[in-house]
Amino acid sequence: NIQADVKSGSKVIAQTIANLIRQKQQQGQNCVLGLATGSSPKTLYAELARMHKEEGLSFGNVISFNLDEYYPISKEAPQSYNRFMHNHLFDQVDIKPENIHIPNGEIKKEDIKAACADYEKQIEAAGGIDLQILGIGNNGHIGFNEPGSGIYTRTRLVNLTNSTRLANAYEFANISEVPRMAITMGISTIMKSRQIILMAWGPAKAIAVKKAVEDEDSEIVPASFLQNHDNVSFVLDEAAAAGL
Ligand code: GLP
Repeated sequence: NIQADVKSGSKVIAQTIANLIRQKQQQGQNCVLGLATGSSPKTLYAELARMHKEEGLSFGNVISFNLDEYYPISKEAPQSYNRFMHNHLFDQVDIKPENIHIPNGEIKKEDIKAACADYEKQIEAAGGIDLQILGIGNNGHIGFNEPGSGIYTRTRLVNLTNSTRLANAYEFANISEVPRMAITMGISTIMKSRQIILMAWGPAKAIAVKKAVEDEDSEIVPASFLQNHDNVSFVLDEAAAAGL
């Protein structure tokens, strides 16, 4: 799905999310969303917040699971994905605080394994993810599944590549402040979602998008594994689609 720009692309995704939330509401069911952070979903979340305010879209039945979080990081740090989600979406809508799930960047190292296993269990207990929203890193990562992440990976602690730390350094005082690790859903966690939408905007994403769509699927470009999902779409602007 190629759209003229970020704004129209984000609207398409927001409409898909809103339709699903409303459809589930009518059926008296929860809507389980997998959510992403980074610069890519900012316009999408602004649009969802607008739909809440102006069109009465309720998040009362939404259960959310975020893809990833830096490790270690304080929940209240301005760069944390916890803070990001509250600023850009959760504080703007009527989602119930107990329905929000974000990997915890504050836990002790020895507790991480158990917390990751628990995160997977919580997703299962919620009935699995109905719709997973993804961005894509310049190197083809999804969540923080860097190149080399296998198809069977689940939620776990990972090392960030230097290119990813560099790409995200703009949020921090300098690159040495960017955490070296993260907790991320795995490829298999993501692939279990019933529907996946990946968004990418701007020329910097064109090569990663082309590889994800056209190269043979492999660990070199983790997003290429999405080729094996039967309900996935890429929403792109023209610049991000330029290599296709
Ligand atoms: C970040 C996040 C990913 C995101 C990607 C692209 O590091 N962990 O979930 O999709 O990198 O980021 P951006 O949208 O800022 O380009």
